[in-house]
Amino acid sequence: MTDFQRTRFCGDLDLSNDSGTTQTLCGWLQDTRNLGGIAFLQLRDHTGVVQLTLPKGKVGKENFKAWTSLSRESVISVTGEVKANQEAPGGIEVVPQEFQVLNESATPLPLGIIDKVEAELETRLTNRYLDLRKPEVAAYFRVRSAISAASHSSLRDQGFLEVQTPKIIASATEGGTGLFPVRYFEKEVYLAQSPQLYKQTLMSGGLDRVYEIGPAFRAEEHNTPRHLNEFISIDIEMSFADDEAVMEVMERVVAETIDALKRDRADELACLGHELPDIELPLPRLTYDECVELAKANGVDLEWGEDLSMEATRAIAKTQTGFYFITRWPLKLKPFYIQPAPDDEGNVNSEARDSLGFDFMYREVEMTSGGQRVHDPSLLETRIAAQGLDPADFEHYLAPFRFGMPPHAGWGLGLDRLTMVLTGADNVRECVLFPRDRHRVVP
Ligand code: AMO
Repeated sequence: MTDFQRTRFCGDLDLSNDSGTTQTLCGWLQDTRNLGGIAFLQLRDHTGVVQLTLPKGKVGKENFKAWTSLSRESVISVTGEVKANQEAPGGIEVVPQEFQVLNESATPLPLGIIDKVEAELETRLTNRYLDLRKPEVAAYFRVRSAISAASHSSLRDQGFLEVQTPKIIASATEGGTGLFPVRYFEKEVYLAQSPQLYKQTLMSGGLDRVYEIGPAFRAEEHNTPRHLNEFISIDIEMSFADDEAVMEVMERVVAETIDALKRDRADELACLGHELPDIELPLPRLTYDECVELAKANGVDLEWGEDLSMEATRAIAKTQTGFYFITRWPLKLKPFYIQPAPDDEGNVNSEARDSLGFDFMYREVEMTSGGQRVHDPSLLETRIAAQGLDPADFEHYLAPFRFGMPPHAGWGLGLDRLTMVLTGADNVRECVLFPRDRHRVVP
């Protein structure tokens, strides 16, 4: 046993149990107030802050000098008596008998922890290890972890099997422009943009319902508060299912996640000053056609068949309280794997045809894309060619469709964006430990 073995976390000290006892705490020295005859130090760990009270007469002149001159953010271990003190934060103080410096911090700090002035996001991300010491920053990641856990749990409860698919791939899944090439021995390969083609292959493999929570890479040049070049995608694929069936899975994931956060992360959400939306299932479903009408009625210049601009989604969002689906997108706006709508006239490549593809939105932010998939191999080849791609490049993808592919549907939900809206962050980078964007690959 090491001699800095802690017996309590700062936030767990409790006068009714601990008053008068001797406890060992470990953490960072966040502040020192030296009044001459007495000093007040603040010790912080990941659970909270406790006041260390140092009466000079009691701790001795030498110790008093050494302990009060220690730099901020040094790592210490303290053993002392727990006492009630009305004036101390939380009504508790610890009077140290032993005080061990485990690692002294250099000065000056590149980023203040308790400073009132708000640092720029860029400075914070460059010094993320210090930034994370602020409770209101750590709160994002405590909420994020609970969102991930609740998504796993909801999908498992709904009968989905967790899988992992390769992140080194040979061909594009979401269109060729967003690919990051990688040198792979003698060949050029790519980082996966999504598990799309693999999760569909698993439907031919008979796994019936699969999910994956893993990284996706997009060489997108957008530098917006919502786009990253590496993000975490929550993906599902489900056999013998249509678009409506997977929208119901999505709603349940989101509703159960919100319930879990209300139950387990109320303190963190209060620290972030964010109130979670109340949601009632089923969530609203607006067709793309209705959205175009709504946008036009709000003065947005938009033709059927165009992607919904930010201005259009803002206008649509005004009519909604929070989460909603936009269904039946024009086929030409969706990837080749999305099923054309059955009840539409004309050939499958018609410019006017709509699809069984949907988006899931929170206000004007897109959280998820999904839909029923094409499962007929000849239709799939037609759709690949219609998007200017060569079916011959998709041979490994197409083969499973020729030997018994069930009808299936699925979606991909961005974990980073879900965390952003459920924490009330104004930039997705707040909720990503070490974001990757056009200008940032370190730290
Ligand atoms: P899509 O490309 O729409 O669909 O991505 C699905 C969801 O992933 C998130 N996302 C991103 N998050 C941060 N930065 C980005 N650059 C970024 N790109 C996407 C969004 C988005 O809604 N294969 C389909 C899904 C499917 O049909 O199953 C796909 O990848 O939240």
